[in-house]
Amino acid sequence: MQDLTPSRDSLDPIEIASRDEIAALQLDRLKWSLRHAYDNVAHYRAAFDAAGVHPDDVTSLADLAKFPFSVKQDLRNNYPFGMFAIPRGDVKRIHASSGTTGQPTVVGYSEKDLATWGSVVARSLRAAGMRPGDMLHNAYGYGLFTGGLGIHLGADALGLSTVPVSGGMTQRQVRLIEDFRPKGITVTPSYALSVLDEYAAQGLDPRKSPLQVGVFGAEPWTNAMRKEIEDAFDMHAVDIYGLSEIMGPGVSMECVETKDGLHIWEDHFYPEVIDPDTGEVLPDGELGELVFTSLTKEAFPIIRYRTRDLTRLLPGTARSMRRMEKVTGRSDDMIILRGVNVFPTQIEEQLMTVAGLAPHFQIELGREGRMDTLTVLAEASVAAAEAAARTVAASELSAKVKDAIGVSIRVTVADPGGVARSQGKAVRIVDNRPKN
Ligand code: DLL
Repeated sequence: MQDLTPSRDSLDPIEIASRDEIAALQLDRLKWSLRHAYDNVAHYRAAFDAAGVHPDDVTSLADLAKFPFSVKQDLRNNYPFGMFAIPRGDVKRIHASSGTTGQPTVVGYSEKDLATWGSVVARSLRAAGMRPGDMLHNAYGYGLFTGGLGIHLGADALGLSTVPVSGGMTQRQVRLIEDFRPKGITVTPSYALSVLDEYAAQGLDPRKSPLQVGVFGAEPWTNAMRKEIEDAFDMHAVDIYGLSEIMGPGVSMECVETKDGLHIWEDHFYPEVIDPDTGEVLPDGELGELVFTSLTKEAFPIIRYRTRDLTRLLPGTARSMRRMEKVTGRSDDMIILRGVNVFPTQIEEQLMTVAGLAPHFQIELGREGRMDTLTVLAEASVAAAEAAARTVAASELSAKVKDAIGVSIRVTVADPGGVARSQGKAVRIVDNRPKN
């Protein structure tokens, strides 16, 4: 793999500024953002008043902890545009989360917000190793989802040649990569695996593909998966994180030279990690729920938004901005199986170490009597795998899960292609438990 480290002088100065400088900028911007939300969004005015706090009382970053949290339900209650802080006519772009149940959550961007978004995504793509003039194959979905258009904005801002493929039509993805010869690909890690399968189906060697770096996000993925993808394509695999409520992709980004967690672009998004049960702010280094406050957003300021993503804050390394550890999962995706907490990423980690299993999987939850059951639906890595080999692989995975996580699971090994594929975010959990 090539060294793709960006030169220091190509970085935005704030990426490598002193902590004091960053904190001073954050405090100024925090005061502005709280006031902007209070003055222009009825929800925030009511919530701050009810909590007895006022933006003018803020004198330090720590004062933010006195302000109330916001949650997805607040967005739903104000559907569609009630959380917007600027006149509707000044909103230049609207995105929405699909959400499998309930109302979609709607977010908006002013012209300046779009420029900010472009600049943080450009920073992220540069951190991944992309340079002006390089070609990018963008396979995140275009549309209301922020992935496709968000990456596109940043690619334009950095000066890349962008191929806006979007998700789907996997044969064509491979064809375009081979014919156009992009240096980078932006895609969910699970869909990258489908592209990888298609290389095999077409009899092509993915290690000979032109790709030098993949920028993977929108869903949790493990370091074991990183290794799998890096080895298969002979390219770097780096992690990009974001959520539509805060901006979209580009809230934080892993640097290709260190691959040690994601630097949060803290000049625009102020992070806290809280104890999800008590709401108390935890010191850096402790695992908890990630909370974000926007510092510069005009159309859709967001104060202390509970992401439900679990991680910890760590000091900066390749950049001065703090890092967040790779997200292990969302509290929503945590399975409590006979009293033990299990995340799909823990299953993924074990599955990656079992020879004979492909990296695709789904978790099916069921109930027998009063006991919940967890079945991992996995796939044999080769079509001709014999029944005996599959049984060995299945028992190896259940033994490893028992050992590492402490729960008994069942494993079914299907034929290659037997696990449902998605073109964007993978559906990891299928809950077949009776609802009562
Ligand atoms: O997934 C934005 C995005 C697009 C990020 C493309 C990266 C690349 P939402 O659809 O609003 O936005 O979903 C946000 O996805 O709260 C996390 O639970 C999860 N997520 C996003 N990135 C990562 C990641 C986009 N790198 C939700 N690792 C977030 C783990 C991620 N989970």
